[in-house]
Amino acid sequence: MSNYDVKDLSQAEGGRRRMDWAEREMPVLRSIRERFKKEKPLKGLRVSACLHVTTETANLMVTLQDGGADIVLTASNPLSTQDDVAAALVNQFEIPTFAIKGEDKVTYFKHIRAALEHKPHMTMDDGADLVSSLFFIEMGRFEKLEPSLGAWAKSLSDEERKQMLKNVIGGTEETTTGVIRLKAMEADNILKFPVIAVNDALTKHLFDNRYGTGQSTIDGIIRATNVLLAGKNFVVAGYGWCGRGLASRARGMGALVIVTEIDPMKALEAVMDGFQVMPMEEAAKIGDILCTLTGDINVIDKHHFEVMKDGAIVANSGHFNVEINIPSLAAMSVGEPNLVRPFVEQYTTKDGRKINILGEGRLINLASAEGHPASVMDMSFANQALAAEYMAKNAKTLEKKVYSVPTDIDNEIARLKLEAMGVKIDLLTDEQLKYLNSWEEGT
Ligand SMILES: NC(=O)c1ccc[n+]([C@@H]2O[C@H](COP(=O)([O-])OP(=O)(O)OC[C@H]3O[C@@H](n4cnc5c(N)ncnc54)[C@H](O)[C@@H]3O)[C@@H](O)[C@H]2O)c1
Repeated sequence: MSNYDVKDLSQAEGGRRRMDWAEREMPVLRSIRERFKKEKPLKGLRVSACLHVTTETANLMVTLQDGGADIVLTASNPLSTQDDVAAALVNQFEIPTFAIKGEDKVTYFKHIRAALEHKPHMTMDDGADLVSSLFFIEMGRFEKLEPSLGAWAKSLSDEERKQMLKNVIGGTEETTTGVIRLKAMEADNILKFPVIAVNDALTKHLFDNRYGTGQSTIDGIIRATNVLLAGKNFVVAGYGWCGRGLASRARGMGALVIVTEIDPMKALEAVMDGFQVMPMEEAAKIGDILCTLTGDINVIDKHHFEVMKDGAIVANSGHFNVEINIPSLAAMSVGEPNLVRPFVEQYTTKDGRKINILGEGRLINLASAEGHPASVMDMSFANQALAAEYMAKNAKTLEKKVYSVPTDIDNEIARLKLEAMGVKIDLLTDEQLKYLNSWEEGT
């Protein structure tokens, strides 16, 4: 395999310009990059990253490269790549990048193979596809791999397969779904190196998942459909960090927001935040726009499609394209779906209703829009860069577990972000410090 696979290198100049635009909004990452240039904390480390190939990710890659890492980057979703950015990384930064927007499953896993062939010391995942492939290969569970990746893995000797995993000192994981998968690996005792759950940092999920996904999901739905949100019934499935962000932003645009949940606590929170809460079975009947953000499977299923309104718009912003049961919709439809606009596939049900699925049920904020704004990715990727540095320094002392980002790193990122935004806050006085640490003062 050659050392890159991107759509069109001639797009590199445009990609570079967009990277620079994003970098302006990433002051925290920029300051880390300046320090990495001098200190080279990742010197000699091979890093394989499986991330959404966006302008922000590109700035993270360049930061790691400046820190001394030898990187290969591959896409973490077949629809999330920005081809101009992939071209810029190859052409202007000589970072081997394997990512093409719209790639099929075989190509997606051919690209993961390139990341594995890099023989990483460190993995950087968004959704844990890289790490899970590594484990299936090491365990010889070829049937769990995409067939061509499985065939390649089978062709390796036992020693080569095991060595691939032995090389890895640790990894990082970007998103909720990946962290869930890694914690399941830890529970099953198959995790063989430490992983830092970047998603668990407060400076990640409080901002990226909530404000980033909230805004960019709306952006994706609007870019795909140009639909007016005001006055529409907008169903948000899942009131976690992403769902909260989407619900509040949809309300801000004048939509009538309905939340569906399975967790009583989250449902109660949604009610008290002023949203209607009801089961999907009810919401599906009245929703004009429905969006899943749960990390779960078949949240919108056959029986929901059966009662859906004519013209309903259905999207997903959760990590995998399993939240909407599209095969069940296909089975109850006449003929093939019509691509009525880019990223809008219109299915016609046997009773004549039209149902619009956006972005093949893949994360709509990355499929039809540009993903999260750079300002919020500044914090997420500052966490990634500092987590990689922490792993490089401390991997030997860590167990084969999923770790949170150390609190001092999290707090430092919040401090740097505020400073970059020109926001000052108060400091505790000595008197306040003493008071807050005492029990003797009362009524
Ligand atoms: N689009 C993006 O760019 C982006 C960014 C960050 C995270 N994500 C992904 O979005 C998903 C959600 O992430 P999060 O951080 O909000 O997770 P979270 O755990 O905070 O929230 C998920 C919520 O979904 C609820 N839920 C689960 N099954 C449900 C069902 N059947 N019906 C209704 N609700 C259900 C859970 O109770 C929970 O409240 C994950 O897959 C995550 O990886 C996407």
